[in-house]
Amino acid sequence: MKAVLVEQPGGPEHMVIGDYPTPEPQADEILVKVKATAVNRADVLQRKGHYPPPKGASPILGLEIAGVVEKVGSAVTKWKPGDRVFGLLEGGGYAEYAVIAENMVLPIPENLSFAEAAAIPEVFLTAYQTLFWIGDLKRGERVLIHAGASGVGTAAIQLAKAAGAEVVVTAGSEGKLEACRKLGADLAINYKEGPFVDKIEDVYGEAAMDVILDFIGAPYFEANLRALAYDGRWVLISTLGGARVEAVDLSAFMAKRIAFTATTLRSRSKPYKIRLTKEFAGQALPRFRSGELKPVIDRRFPIEQVQDAHRYMEENRNIGKIVLTIGE
Ligand SMILES: NC(=O)c1ccc[n+]([C@@H]2O[C@H](COP(=O)([O-])OP(=O)(O)OC[C@H]3O[C@@H](n4cnc5c(N)ncnc54)[C@H](OP(=O)(O)O)[C@@H]3O)[C@@H](O)[C@H]2O)c1
Repeated sequence: MKAVLVEQPGGPEHMVIGDYPTPEPQADEILVKVKATAVNRADVLQRKGHYPPPKGASPILGLEIAGVVEKVGSAVTKWKPGDRVFGLLEGGGYAEYAVIAENMVLPIPENLSFAEAAAIPEVFLTAYQTLFWIGDLKRGERVLIHAGASGVGTAAIQLAKAAGAEVVVTAGSEGKLEACRKLGADLAINYKEGPFVDKIEDVYGEAAMDVILDFIGAPYFEANLRALAYDGRWVLISTLGGARVEAVDLSAFMAKRIAFTATTLRSRSKPYKIRLTKEFAGQALPRFRSGELKPVIDRRFPIEQVQDAHRYMEENRNIGKIVLTIGE
């Protein structure tokens, strides 16, 4: 089969389309003819050689796919060739074919295209897990979502609003803030125009955020601590701004009884991901069918233009997802 190969760790120019053996499904897996996949920051890091795939995973880039079932393993009961499916992978999405465990697969709602379905798994499952499983977000609470226009951010805004929470976001341009408002954000703050925490305090007062989804890390450390409410939950999902905090006053964590959790979805066990996928299917999939939840796609690139797609993400230009289409 054809697949995107990384000739050597480094820039986008090292990704080329080449031949790679077509994977064979194990007994509990299905082989999917991939119609669309999507770009994630993890792919960028892996391309640079900074994020090796977990043990046993395909070395090919790509954490999510949408496509058509080509072949099923001997123990598979839920799917048959021809079914339209999508799901989360540990790797292997940037290819003509990918294998995926049958319990990690979801049916594509009739109203969604392959490209739209491919824009869902990584960001919506991450947002669902961090808001509700880790952040324990409840109806009527307030959540602060940094990088609000990112793939995960745009998913988190929608899920948090659907759950009856009040949503505050930060983002770096007026276009991104407007997109966040359209998705339901109650307050959208341009972090380039002054400390975001001052703006939050102007509107909600001190210590007003029950949950923070933090993609930024070190530069926001003090401000996040200040913005968090008593019994606040701080979920560290990425360190886009830096990972090293020089001085930490632990007494502030104690005084406000703050829970700090850091997480990566990719490293979670298969049973954990299957549980998450199953719960998401029950809670969120019907809302995609009804149109209440929408995949947010910024741009689609044919897989042959994968280099441009990576450059686009690295320039922080996207609002929502960057999708790669295959064989269109
Ligand atoms: N832990 C997990 O399980 C998990 C799962 C999925 C994704 N992630 C991580 O979550 C992050 C978001 O993923 P994504 O795919 O949604 O990303 P994305 O769509 O590429 O968006 C990232 C956005 O973050 C903002 N940003 C970047 N550097 C920044 C900085 N130094 N300070 C402030 N804002 C900055 C930029 O928007 P502005 O223009 O608004 O600054 C950028 O467009 C990535 O780092 C990804 O690796 C983690």
